[in-house]
Amino acid sequence: MTKHDVQDLALADQGRLRIEWAAQEMPVLRDIRERFAQEKPLAGIKIAGCLHITTETANLGRALVAGGAELALCASNPLSTQDDVAAALVAHYGIPTFAIKGEDHDTYYQHIYAALDHGPTITMDDGADLLSTLHKDRTDLLAGVMAGTEETTTGVIRLRAMAAEGALRYPVIAVNDALTKHLFDNRYGTGQSTIDGIIRATNYLIAGKVVVVGGYGWCSRGIAMRARGMGANIVVTEVDPLRALEAVMDGYRVMTMIEAAAIGDIFITSTGDKSVIDRQHLAVMKDGAIIANSGHFNVEINIPALEAMAQQKLRPRSFVEQYVLADGRRINLLGEGRLINLAAAEGHPASVMDMSFANQALCAEYLVGHASELERQVYSVPHDIDAEIARLKLEAMGIRIDTLTAEQETYLTSWESGT
Ligand code: ADE
Repeated sequence: MTKHDVQDLALADQGRLRIEWAAQEMPVLRDIRERFAQEKPLAGIKIAGCLHITTETANLGRALVAGGAELALCASNPLSTQDDVAAALVAHYGIPTFAIKGEDHDTYYQHIYAALDHGPTITMDDGADLLSTLHKDRTDLLAGVMAGTEETTTGVIRLRAMAAEGALRYPVIAVNDALTKHLFDNRYGTGQSTIDGIIRATNYLIAGKVVVVGGYGWCSRGIAMRARGMGANIVVTEVDPLRALEAVMDGYRVMTMIEAAAIGDIFITSTGDKSVIDRQHLAVMKDGAIIANSGHFNVEINIPALEAMAQQKLRPRSFVEQYVLADGRRINLLGEGRLINLAAAEGHPASVMDMSFANQALCAEYLVGHASELERQVYSVPHDIDAEIARLKLEAMGIRIDTLTAEQETYLTSWESGT
């Protein structure tokens, strides 16, 4: 039996149906899977993936295995696992999987260790927990690792810090930085799925609410855009003057969090930093305020401060913790402050994960051929891979675009002709 620690293998048939449903929206990954099945570019490669265990990740898994890889998977967040998918990965796709929705901190790390026991040649992370555990506690495995990939902004930030300190022991490709990743997954994926998670958790009307968006990176841009589309009145908070200016010119109100805290109905953080909503902000929020996080880790809201301020804690709905403060105000924390789009909803829709995971699959293939030429640094996705994924996606959507004429090519490479 394939090694595993999942909630219930009896959920496997339902999981497989949902994985196949998602596959219909992932044509680029399907093309890659079909080519991989012929060419086997990952033969002999062992991959340990620490990713959100969703229907989309299962389709990435299918592509990697079709390419000849031996894959083991564990969760990259304690709340994001879809238990039926984890069951199907084991029972129907023969992929060792260690992930249970709602697992505690110890189980989360036991699952990372179980995936590491697979003895990876390539690591695939979403948040860098597997890579950092390997670097701290399983250094015996380092000699066998050729390279890694990283899916998300927060993970890339951690890896760059490791590389700067000289602590990174193998090269890693920052999949997040590919244009076909962050322009679509971070913006449209996080935008839609975050609003989806908040609505599923609260059943609140978004129209007419003051929605405070913490940060104005690609994820926050998507969240602000989609909340505005549903009729919310958006406030953006930022620390970067350029991003703040961009938010102003995109038509949003920009102010400090302490100003926003007093007027917001719904707060959504997506900055990658800690204590963006801190004690002093909680202290002035309106009765009934909703706070949610869509950044990778549950540190963006100072939950220990909220716990300390509360006199009572109620659970009016799944994914809603209501903290009743001494003065009677109720502050509602969604999804324990973990990324709400995966905790209360299903994460980014398959159509954008198609491109993100096409990057993962093609980068794994690239690393097999090129890892030996790379230093212990963080690398961008090669431009050819990015361009090829955009081309394949347009083709799958039935959209044709123009090509430059010879005259236009010459014009673009010459400097003589002006006005
Ligand atoms: N990250 C965000 N959404 C995701 C999804 N649907 N699957 C895997 N990782 C994700």
